[in-house]
Amino acid sequence: MATISRAAQFAQRTAHLRASTIREMLKVTQQPDVISFGGGLPAPELFPTAAIGAAALAVMERLGPAALQYSVTEGIPEMRGWVAERLTRRFGRIFDAESVQIVNGSQQGLDLVGKIFLDPGDHVVLEDPSYLGAIQAFDAYQTRYLTVDTDEEGLLPDSLERVLERADPFPKFLYLVPNFQNPTGRTLSGERRPTVVRICEHFGLPIVEDDPYGELRFEGRNLPPLISFASTAPIIYSGTGSKVMAPGMRIAWLVVPDDDIREKIVLAKQGADLHSGTFAQYVFHEYASNGPAFDAHVHTIAETYARRRGIMAEALGEFMPQGVHFTHPAGGMFLWVTVPGVDTTQLLRISAESKVVFVPGVNFYPHRDVHDGMRLNFSNASEKNIRVGVERLAHAVRLYKG
Ligand SMILES: Cc1ncc(COP(=O)(O)O)c(C=O)c1O
Repeated sequence: MATISRAAQFAQRTAHLRASTIREMLKVTQQPDVISFGGGLPAPELFPTAAIGAAALAVMERLGPAALQYSVTEGIPEMRGWVAERLTRRFGRIFDAESVQIVNGSQQGLDLVGKIFLDPGDHVVLEDPSYLGAIQAFDAYQTRYLTVDTDEEGLLPDSLERVLERADPFPKFLYLVPNFQNPTGRTLSGERRPTVVRICEHFGLPIVEDDPYGELRFEGRNLPPLISFASTAPIIYSGTGSKVMAPGMRIAWLVVPDDDIREKIVLAKQGADLHSGTFAQYVFHEYASNGPAFDAHVHTIAETYARRRGIMAEALGEFMPQGVHFTHPAGGMFLWVTVPGVDTTQLLRISAESKVVFVPGVNFYPHRDVHDGMRLNFSNASEKNIRVGVERLAHAVRLYKG
């Protein structure tokens, strides 16, 4: 009887899936005395548990079985309307509920975008470094990456232009996180935003704008999203309830004004899961439709994270040796530390023994070619633990340097 090897049973695309060193590393953080700056978790003590409980009851009382039935793929009309209205209010440009697609976490949105655009060998343009979850989502489609250089103000338009001029094959889209980027915490400056849109329009390159952190701004003024600029090249905007309500709800949204792209996304989602959970959508909407309470909640989250960011930055300045530098994010959940001359994957081994963990920066570089960075999360640890953790981390850096 003919047999085939185990490896040959799997689709070729599985060979492109990267083992998540982060997940392995995070096992260490299960130990109670380890301080973790590694995960990307929101502060659980800020989840509005009582209000979500009340919203769930209200939904059950008002809708009963209708809240538990199969539903349409695009999302319940109430949620699509809420997303369009909130974006319209925040950005002073009309967003249409018809262009909103509710997804199961923005991670699903990234997978669906990959599914409809990417063939094996295709290029995607990414910031360098970039969000690891996006790289994982696109990897499954056997993609290759073209990287654009970044500085303190986000991606460099000149670098983007150079990459697009030389690209072969021409990429399918640009993916970027313009606000308080994961992993660096950097924000694409207001001056660069229209330039990036203009360059992509010139080349006819679609943009995938991932904005999970935009509402968590600590200081400065809100900047218009790329999707608010007129462009003949399509722009897909991704937002999520994960950071402003709770990630376990898995409620997120794509805004896709282009009808052809939206149709394909609906079909891809139908094949993936038919629709996002009806009950979760109703509960999310019930909670979030109380505008003032929702705004106050988002404000509390931003205030709390701003304090934690401040304490982390202060501790880094106080404890880290000369030469170490770090970003000063104006929002979000992460900051990025550069430790020149240090391979932070090696550093993690030492720091884990000192009971503090982080994500080594190399994981966020699509070509895995830069080793001296690390991503620190400041949303999930207490103020006291942030100080203690940074002191331990600085000690680990000194041990590494001998
Ligand atoms: C840039 C970025 N995009 C997407 C996600 C995924 O979020 P969601 O919980 O909506 O799937 C995250 C989560 O950390 C993120 O940082």
